[in-house]
Amino acid sequence: MKSPTTQHAPGPHVVVVGSLNLDLIARVERLPAAGETVAGSVLLRRFGGKGANQAVAAARQGARVAMMGCVGCDADGEEYCRRLARSERIDARAIHHVPNETTGTALIAVEGHGQNSIVVVAGANARLTPAMIRAQANLIRGAKALLLQLEVPLPAVLAAMRIANATGVPVFFNPSPLRPDFPWGRVALHTVVVNEIEARHIFGRSPDDLSRKPAVWRRRLAERRITQILVTRGAESTLCLTTEAMFSVPTLRVRPVDTVGAGDTFAGTFTARMAEGSSLADAVALANVAGGLATLKPGAQEAMPSRRETERWRTKLR
Ligand code: RIB
Repeated sequence: MKSPTTQHAPGPHVVVVGSLNLDLIARVERLPAAGETVAGSVLLRRFGGKGANQAVAAARQGARVAMMGCVGCDADGEEYCRRLARSERIDARAIHHVPNETTGTALIAVEGHGQNSIVVVAGANARLTPAMIRAQANLIRGAKALLLQLEVPLPAVLAAMRIANATGVPVFFNPSPLRPDFPWGRVALHTVVVNEIEARHIFGRSPDDLSRKPAVWRRRLAERRITQILVTRGAESTLCLTTEAMFSVPTLRVRPVDTVGAGDTFAGTFTARMAEGSSLADAVALANVAGGLATLKPGAQEAMPSRRETERWRTKLR
């Protein structure tokens, strides 16, 4: 089945390969411990998934975005693709509608300070194949940036990365949720966006430790064929480690209501801004602003800011 056609926004061309989920979000006073039941106050049904969240964040910054992924042949999948195309002006034609599958679902609990815990049932996301990616290779070849996460099967992720590498399209990678079998060093990655826990797993050292030893992190980047990494640290400044330099960029001071999707907003905003030629420092500053604003309302996509809002709030950066 074909997804709805769309009127594309002007601007750079970002291709996102990733997941699309229906998020069922329960508001709780505190997150349940193992074996514990807690009462939820509000239940929300929102569209999410790391891939689609990042695509929406990039589109709201003005990027021309195409999304590759899978939804089920169900009402949720239909509604989601229609919404991406009509409300976000995202090209949804490379999203497959998989027969006899349900659209991916995330069960999310959000506590009083905005922290969350998430269980994802992949559903149709697990059906994305290298063949589906290769069938859309021209979309990737014509892009200014390819953006991926790890909520879809690794062979499909690697197939997309290899197409981008072969044509010199920069690969932006948010390796979340982290997988132990990702073959670091086998593909070239322009930017890797991680949190502190992910950074420690990938590089075998804490980001603070790495930032004190330039020779060590340069070697670790080169071994993994990574040009630069960005380490998001919640309310703390974002650490940028490139093969040339190390610096940190302040975040926006906010009182978070719901942090679901904040990291996705950061990754999508950063990629959109880099694709249009912003400097690294500028792109990180704007991504920090957008990521902070995204925590001010429940749901991953509801509070993602527009380009104009992002720029207006940038003046408030510490
Ligand atoms: O990063 C947030 C996202 O993770 C949610 O939207 C949920 O769908 C899970 O994939």
